[in-house]
Amino acid sequence: MKLGRLNHIGVATTSIADSIVHYREVMGATSISTPFELPEQGVKVCFVDTPTETGLNGTQIELIEPYDDSSPINGFLAKNPAGGQHHVCFEVPDIEEARAEFEAMGKRILGPTRIGAHGTPIFFVHPKDMQGMLTEIMETPKDRYH
Ligand code: CO
Repeated sequence: MKLGRLNHIGVATTSIADSIVHYREVMGATSISTPFELPEQGVKVCFVDTPTETGLNGTQIELIEPYDDSSPINGFLAKNPAGGQHHVCFEVPDIEEARAEFEAMGKRILGPTRIGAHGTPIFFVHPKDMQGMLTEIMETPKDRYH
């Protein structure tokens, strides 16, 4: 396994609009994407950029709000009504290689490899096999500065 950059922390919220106000007014975020919908994944998504010394390409906060009543994050929000940290996402150079390695280690992978919110292939690994953290593995975007 070749660990890459911490791409984002997924944060569940009942209202992306309210969360945007929080990140802008309380946390001082200056770069926040326009929210968009991923109906096939059951979520609405918005990215809050954190800066690095060289610009705005630091780890992101990925705000996720349920798309509808069948959203996979409804259960999490039922248990955590205020929302909160839902998953962490690490980059890897090669998604198929990483998947094969996790499988070989006996880690439970949740569903197929699919295209995630950044437009690159991702998969999720079961929190019970990952020190209690739902872990998203994402192929490093070919063009970091999009
Ligand atoms: Co994510």
